[in-house]
Amino acid sequence: MKTFFMVKPDGVKRNLIGEVISRVEKEGFQITKIKMMDISEELAKEHYGEHADKPFFNDLVSFITSGPVVAMEVQGDDVVSEIRRIMGATNPSDADPGTIRADLATKLEENVVHGSDSPESAERELSLFF
Ligand code: RTP
Ligand code: MG
Repeated sequence: MKTFFMVKPDGVKRNLIGEVISRVEKEGFQITKIKMMDISEELAKEHYGEHADKPFFNDLVSFITSGPVVAMEVQGDDVVSEIRRIMGATNPSDADPGTIRADLATKLEENVVHGSDSPESAERELSLFF
């Protein structure tokens, strides 16, 4: 099984790429594709299309296009839900200790990582990015 995983611009700016990838690898998951890239406004709107009618959509698109990201394909057993577990809750203040967002993020809007939320999202997002 495969999922789409990404270090967001805040994580790249704060030199957290290695720390984030290390956590994923230590849990036994394999990085099968990886690239640093800038996300275009078009790709951002497509990727986050499910949030198009939310009040935070424009800020979300601005943030995710604000600097380079590290996009990955990650492989392993139950990898979609396992990566979400390793990431922690969307809002770092709700995230369990030991998760990436609890340990490395403080703001809902800048929460260091993205991971697909279902196998269907994983397939869609992997084909958008790779
Ligand atoms: P992501 O897609 O980035 O992995 O995050 P997620 O599944 O945990 O959360 P999701 O509901 O998909 O929201 C996407 C991103 O939008 C930002 N957000 N802002 N201001 C707000 O109320 C609000 N709510 C969500 C978060 O940065 C979240 O990661
Ligand atoms: Mg999401």
